Amino acid sequence: MVSDLIRFRDPDDCYDHEIFWGLSTSSVRFASPIGAEFVAGSEGLGHVLQVVSDRARYESLSLDVLGFRLSDHVDLAPGLAATFLHCNPRHHSFAFAPKVEGRPLGVGHFLLEVTDLDVIGRAMEHIEDGPHRLLKTFGRHSNDRMTSFYLLTPSDVGLEFGTGGIKIDDETWTPTRYDTAHFWGHHSVDHH
Ligand SMILES: [Fe+2]
Repeated sequence: MVSDLIRFRDPDDCYDHEIFWGLSTSSVRFASPIGAEFVAGSEGLGHVLQVVSDRARYESLSLDVLGFRLSDHVDLAPGLAATFLHCNPRHHSFAFAPKVEGRPLGVGHFLLEVTDLDVIGRAMEHIEDGPHRLLKTFGRHSNDRMTSFYLLTPSDVGLEFGTGGIKIDDETWTPTRYDTAHFWGHHSVDHH
């Protein structure tokens, strides 16, 4: 579905990355069965947060090789900062955090964004009533201002479903340092 691509393995030997050009388009219009309109297109699918073993290597790969730019840092705990990077108006497309005890390397969560808060609310009710597992309660992020909740997918990767993420541009954006990732909410739900 692309004209050409190259592929490389990431530093932690977790994933293959593909760099492509000439993405095929479809003339068939996407119609969501739940009336969701996704924020995607030139902003890409969403974002991904990866737990990594060596932040310097991911910084070098993302900034120096792939050309991402710094959005900001969030201090999660003393000496433990997550790095958020952008490559288009979406506040961040890729983020990484150093590994801590008990968290496996690899993607912790990925985000899908929609345009309508009601779609998020209805999805959240489905999660509460159904067999799916809520991971983090409804809340709002400090840095990208995303209002979202998290669920655990059947493959045990987190999925953040959100709305209202900010757009940034390099003319005016100044990277910031936050002391929390959440203005409110996003409380972890224990399944054990
Ligand atoms: Fe996220």
